[in-house]
Amino acid sequence: MSRNISNLSGRIGLKKNLFQKISERSLNSKNNDGMKEIADEYKMGLSTIHGAESFYEFLRPSHREKKAFVCNGSACMCAGTQENLKNKLKDKLGKDKVGEMFCLGYCYENNAFHYNGENYAGKDINEIDKIINGETIIQEKFISKSFATTSFLMDNKLSNINKFKDNLSKFLKIDKNEIIKSLLSSNLTGRGGAGFPTGMKWDFCSKTKSKKKYVVCNADEGDSGAFSDRYLLEDQPLKVIFGMVVCAYVIGSDEGVLYIRGEYPKSIEALNGSINSLKEAGLLGEKILGTDFSFDLNICIGQGAYICGEETALIASIEGRRAEVDVRPPFPVTEGLYKKPTVVNNVETLAAAAGILINGAEKFSAIGNKKSAGTKLVCLDSFFNNPGVYEIDMGTPMKKVFYEIGGGLNKPIKAFQIGGPLGGVVPIKEVEKLNLDFQEFTSAGFMLGHASVVSIPKDFSMIDYIHHLFEFSAEESCGKCFPGRLGSYRGKEMFDQFKNKSTKIPLKLLNELLITMKKGCLCALCGAIPTPIMNILKYFGDELKNDIVVEN
Ligand SMILES: Cc1cc2nc3c(=O)[nH]c(=O)nc-3n(C[C@H](O)[C@H](O)[C@H](O)COP(=O)(O)O)c2cc1C
Repeated sequence: MSRNISNLSGRIGLKKNLFQKISERSLNSKNNDGMKEIADEYKMGLSTIHGAESFYEFLRPSHREKKAFVCNGSACMCAGTQENLKNKLKDKLGKDKVGEMFCLGYCYENNAFHYNGENYAGKDINEIDKIINGETIIQEKFISKSFATTSFLMDNKLSNINKFKDNLSKFLKIDKNEIIKSLLSSNLTGRGGAGFPTGMKWDFCSKTKSKKKYVVCNADEGDSGAFSDRYLLEDQPLKVIFGMVVCAYVIGSDEGVLYIRGEYPKSIEALNGSINSLKEAGLLGEKILGTDFSFDLNICIGQGAYICGEETALIASIEGRRAEVDVRPPFPVTEGLYKKPTVVNNVETLAAAAGILINGAEKFSAIGNKKSAGTKLVCLDSFFNNPGVYEIDMGTPMKKVFYEIGGGLNKPIKAFQIGGPLGGVVPIKEVEKLNLDFQEFTSAGFMLGHASVVSIPKDFSMIDYIHHLFEFSAEESCGKCFPGRLGSYRGKEMFDQFKNKSTKIPLKLLNELLITMKKGCLCALCGAIPTPIMNILKYFGDELKNDIVVEN
């Protein structure tokens, strides 16, 4: 069934993308007007279109009735700023007019909210009258700085179209295999979480025979604590696009898509601007720089579903299907978007690939080690004296990252959740033993992931933190596998019941639930959420002992 829908959607393709059509219809209509026309145009059943639309939070009537949305991500929650913010917005806009959105990427200043298609944070709430009047206000920018031996991501910007052009004309003369060799020798691994070697991914896709192939940039950064992709999209859009264009040249693709979450309006604006400028300069489109290479780029805007960051759900979403995770294999490199060979890469991976090709692979591989090579963006939240996004050498001691680069902490902190909601909860004493290294984190029972850091204050209840994680997975599970769909709800209920003071938490049952989810879920959303919960049970037993029942 889903193969059929993929093919029907692919028949029309990216130019008149089905998902964008479904979104636009839904956002501009209060009833089902126009839905049948879309179904007919794409030769699909009405239920398929309705089913896809109903998957997304932003397309639901309950969401569209709201005027403002406060960020309910982990960093804003730990900072304790959101209740007050919500009340202020309710005072201005009405009690029923304020909803929630999961992580707007302002973890460095909190107080984050979304109003009328724009994001605000920090002190912006003091200007609420101006914001409601539609006046432009001056907003703080994130602090960004490279501490790397050689900067591949932050410095040496592709700051203008001419630099883009000079570099592209150079690479379009290089043999494709040489570019793959260079990436392989750099030891770059995917920065989106799974850590697959990027050169190998491009190589596999280049060797898959097909007239049509796609390059997809995964810009659905939903991990709370992370704003590194947002930094790259807004500050270095040309570098990200350069990575996509070179990838397309190497694998033999003539079309790509950037899937950007709707929670990042400024990123969408920046990318749109860059794509238009590149098209005007003839650097995207037909026969680029007089060669036989053509490549066009489209943007797809997410509609508020965290799971769309998972690559098979992301592909389903672009195709206009419900964003449910698919079983792999086949992997996207052989059967991806519209069932055609596809490279899906994270924003930072593509920017790093561009940086490596421009600066030299040997400089990248010289940093860190073979499995954790090069430099990485690390995001530090508002509990650090120097909150911001930093480019740091892999292998750097976490003590240095936190206390020198981050400037230490401004409040007593007991643990950090590193790598988003699916990453480990690392007690402060444990993190001090680690280096910035994917394998070291995994061996210690944590996960470095996208290297975002959310600080958990000493006085923040770990029961509340576990409740937050179960609530998140219950809300964001795609619903395809039973252990994920039911398990996350059962976990949430267990902690709901505790919070309502009716029962203590049964440890045996909780452990069984966590093991079932870990072993049985289709993807790492509900399959990895047990990791931070198990970390809390292991390291914070003393804090939890009065709330948990240990039965035989
Ligand atoms: C639940 C879930 C959410 C994910 N979210 C993202 C995301 O927001 N951005 C991203 O690049 N990768 C995300 N991933 C990883 C992607 O599935 C995929 O591995 C990645 O986009 C591949 O690109 P890379 O090789 O450049 O890392 C997620 C994975 C899972 C299981």
